[in-house]
Amino acid sequence: MTVPGTTRSTFDVGSVKGSNTFLNKEFPMSGKNFQQISELAYQHSGIVLIDRKQDMIYGRLARRLRKLGIANFDLYLQQLDENWEAEGTSFLNAITTNKTAFFRENHHFEHLAKTIIPNLKIKYKTSKRIRVWSAAASTGEEPYSIAMVFKEAFPGKAWDIKILATDIDSDVLAKAQAGVYTNERVEGIEAARLRKWFKKYDAEHYQANDSLKSILQFKQLNLLEPWPIRGQFDVVFCRNVIIYFDLKTQKTLFQNIHQHMVDDACLYIGHSETLLNVSEQFKSYGLTIYKRLQS
Ligand SMILES: C[S@@+](CC[C@H](N)C(=O)[O-])C[C@H]1O[C@@H](n2cnc3c(N)ncnc32)[C@H](O)[C@@H]1O
Repeated sequence: MTVPGTTRSTFDVGSVKGSNTFLNKEFPMSGKNFQQISELAYQHSGIVLIDRKQDMIYGRLARRLRKLGIANFDLYLQQLDENWEAEGTSFLNAITTNKTAFFRENHHFEHLAKTIIPNLKIKYKTSKRIRVWSAAASTGEEPYSIAMVFKEAFPGKAWDIKILATDIDSDVLAKAQAGVYTNERVEGIEAARLRKWFKKYDAEHYQANDSLKSILQFKQLNLLEPWPIRGQFDVVFCRNVIIYFDLKTQKTLFQNIHQHMVDDACLYIGHSETLLNVSEQFKSYGLTIYKRLQS
């Protein structure tokens, strides 16, 4: 199968065999189909789909086949092969896992408020300019949580603070941009904060207010492709995404992230992630917290 628009090396499919137990489903999926899907996922997003994900991937892609009126995965894969431009984005949106929450792994936000921001206030007392990146922002709960911490630490307009929120998945980014969340989802935000930074949207939803949104910028960005990013960040959140990547991809990614950070900048990664054996360009600064070392 040719994979247009990518320079990624071929996925080692030795460990991914897929199973034929999905042949009797509504949309028959062979082990070979799953293998091809895994190759496409890896080549276009770096996501490694191991065998036990087949059930989950079947469920997510079956929705696409139903919507497109396609009878089986042979035909769907043929369509992807012949016209990646038309279906590739929806394919990638379907295979990504977008689990997130407001103030998820709250110790990162406490560290940001109590350790990083006081340092930034001193470091940038003249320029008053701070740049932050949420590199796998999903539906926005992470960048809005960061924005609340910054807005509370820097009331008023004297400081130029921008948070770039990016994700490969265009569907979740659209949700993030809208900033509308169910009553249930905002339960992770303290009542006083919720009152301050969100307004009631309707009976079932809240929406982030314009002042919170004003320091956020949402952009679609594939971490594996060249980044149209100028300048360097003072803080990077790259959480709960590298668990889907293999070691080689993780190494390249953190080399690139390192280049896009200022000296001593702070990097937050997810609770089950580590930079041990991945990068020596950062030093540990707390639990899943790292400081950028000079090159
Ligand atoms: C589990 S969510 C993590 C969200 C948030 N960082 C958190 O920790 O709560 C992982 C996100 O990574 C995104 N993702 C996966 N592969 C990506 C890639 N190659 N480039 C950019 N984002 C990617 C997915 O779309 C998904 O929204």
